[in-house]
Amino acid sequence: MIDLRSDTVTRPTAAMRSAMAAAEVGDDVYGEDPTVNRLQERAAEIFGKEAALFVPTGSMGNQIAVKLHTQPGQEILIEERGHIFNYELGTPAVVAGVMVRTVCSADGSGHLTWDEISSALKIGQPYYSSPTGLICLENTHNFAGGSVMPAEHCADVCEKAHAVGIPVHMDGARIFNAATALETLVAELTKGCDSVQFCLSKGLGAPVGSVLVGSADFIKAARIWRKRLGGGMRQVGILAAAGFVALEESPNRLHEDHANARRLAEGLAEIPGISVDVERVVTNIVIFDISGTGKTSAEICATLKEKGILAIGFGNAIRMVTHCDVSGEDIERTLVAFRDVVA
Ligand SMILES: Cc1ncc(COP(=O)(O)O)c(C=O)c1O
Repeated sequence: MIDLRSDTVTRPTAAMRSAMAAAEVGDDVYGEDPTVNRLQERAAEIFGKEAALFVPTGSMGNQIAVKLHTQPGQEILIEERGHIFNYELGTPAVVAGVMVRTVCSADGSGHLTWDEISSALKIGQPYYSSPTGLICLENTHNFAGGSVMPAEHCADVCEKAHAVGIPVHMDGARIFNAATALETLVAELTKGCDSVQFCLSKGLGAPVGSVLVGSADFIKAARIWRKRLGGGMRQVGILAAAGFVALEESPNRLHEDHANARRLAEGLAEIPGISVDVERVVTNIVIFDISGTGKTSAEICATLKEKGILAIGFGNAIRMVTHCDVSGEDIERTLVAFRDVVA
């Protein structure tokens, strides 16, 4: 199978598996797992923040941040296709007691400008209006096709948000993909953010885990909420060991996934009935419109599956994601199969 459904499907590398087998462990609920502590210290260092916390999933990292930055009854503001709003099961309402206000990014990039954000902020309004408690950004933006937010854009939003007293959380599930595409450092891309969540288990290829980074006080409070949500794990250095390898080694190879995604988009663009903006494919996600083929995305995905290729269809679109278990040859095979399916 060529699995292009997501970069979450990657399997741990041999280096990850041997690091897991050799990991020194302790009880992380007591803060005594040396491998977890090493991962957290390294993550904080890479992001230029005071502290970090290993969490089981990106969703938990995001939701702890939403909880800690807000008060019940407030709103959080996010671009309308954002993961925190669409794919985290309404947890902002369930756990933090906040409402989500969405804004559409006019240029389709998924990255809201300060003008778009500020027109939807609720600050200093009458007491019966729920105030904005947090702005959430996402880099890369998954459902905007892995689009990237440059460092200056993020810095501008953070500076202006802070000037009006609102914190900023970055859902950086794929922030290393953004850094690779923009040829910069993740610390630059998240400089002004009050907190950042990044995933070890997506493009970086670890089997499990995400890391939340921020100030020492924020992470101290995050540790309490992680436990409260059932995410206090014990000898979890076994998993952190794979995460450490992912953090140190995987960013160096992400450009291969991006080249494969671009090649895929170029090939798809040549197939009649497919519409894809090749120039917008800058990381590892390709989202394309299939309405011109006369078939539904469900039909296409089902036939692709019979040919050994997995992709996700939604509405008139299909998403394909490249990752370390997808080779250049797999991309060529996918294109051949696709031509057959829509012919
Ligand atoms: C942008 C983004 N944020 C957060 C998450 C959540 O990560 P997890 O599946 O580890 O909860 C995902 C998962 O696909 C994602 O794409």
